[in-house]
Amino acid sequence: MQRTLAPKVSGWSVMLAWSAACTGGGGAQRPAASVAREPFGTTDQGAAVNVYTLKNAHGMEVRATSYGGIILSLKVPDRNGRFDDVVLGYDSLSDYQRASPYFGAIIGRYGNRIAGGRFTLDGRTYTLARNNGPNHLHGGLKGFDKVVWDVAPFEHPDSVGLVFRYRSPDGEEGYPGTLQATVTYTLTDRNELIFDYLGTTDRATPVNLTQHSYFNLAGDGKGDILGHVVTLNADHFTPVDSTLIPTGEIRAVAGTPFDFRTPTAIGARIAQDDEQLRYGRGYDHNFVLNKGGTGGSPGEGAALTLAARVYEPSTGRVMEIYTTEPGMQFYTGNFLDGTLRGKHGVVYRHRYGFAMETQHFPDTPNKPDFPSTTLHPGEQYRSQTIYKFAVQP
Ligand code: GLA
Repeated sequence: MQRTLAPKVSGWSVMLAWSAACTGGGGAQRPAASVAREPFGTTDQGAAVNVYTLKNAHGMEVRATSYGGIILSLKVPDRNGRFDDVVLGYDSLSDYQRASPYFGAIIGRYGNRIAGGRFTLDGRTYTLARNNGPNHLHGGLKGFDKVVWDVAPFEHPDSVGLVFRYRSPDGEEGYPGTLQATVTYTLTDRNELIFDYLGTTDRATPVNLTQHSYFNLAGDGKGDILGHVVTLNADHFTPVDSTLIPTGEIRAVAGTPFDFRTPTAIGARIAQDDEQLRYGRGYDHNFVLNKGGTGGSPGEGAALTLAARVYEPSTGRVMEIYTTEPGMQFYTGNFLDGTLRGKHGVVYRHRYGFAMETQHFPDTPNKPDFPSTTLHPGEQYRSQTIYKFAVQP
């Protein structure tokens, strides 16, 4: 699926706003979609960071920062039209810099784990930080979640958005090649938040970009997420060892607590005595999405298909996820333990949020049978994920 990515900004300074009525929508005047920028502080290293507020014509609002591309808040309506922030996070930049379990951030250069922090590519072995027990996780000590991105806002007749750009130098966090990464967030008037990922490199390198928002569709801080009803379009998942590295097996979900092919509450089976649930301390697994035969290697231009649907019964909020990626890590906030204090002083207790990280499979650089994550010079890494919000009675 192709979309126009070129930012369409001219003379942008502090605020852009327009009325949908001006764009030929006709009929009753709708609220203006807009994008605005404010300072969000300075990093410990002295870099200035901004926060951008996107609003669509229905009042849906996304706030995101140039630090890590972090989505700070995401306001969507419930079945009565009441808006709540449905993502976890912090109020201040210093909180994100101090200790964040990747709240809302862009993840790269390689989302998820690489076993032993090592891989071999074109006959050469690369050593990466072991920042998660014996393994490498989410790009290392200073992954794409902790860098300051260049941001260019844009406006289109039926959407607003932000283009994030980052040049990851050759050797950064141990990875080969200079990677030019571009991630576009688009908020549409169809209540979709679209993520487009592009990348190019000057040497072969593994690339696996994703977004790590934690959701609670009842509202941030409104209890655990065990009552959310999840449907996953996945007949298989990749079982893991005790350090959450895939064994290489592609296992059928049928007859296991990983079968979400029909709508099932997250909490319905999470406490079952199951080895995989023990290893993950709950769900923290990559699901192999049913793609109808399409591949999904970098540069291949895979099809956009439904990955997941989540329904929160008390508010009626629904989130659907569509992606070109072959996999999705479903993580149920098992490591949240009440030690982090988030926005407005909310304490994030066990399973107060879940993440659905669309991705290639974990540890692919060491798993030749998994769909490839190697990006070569001359190829374009290209990936798209859509979070679509709606309500249900
Ligand atoms: C991913 C990982 C989890 C955990 C979270 C952040 O979802 O798979 O194990 O690291 O990120 O805490």
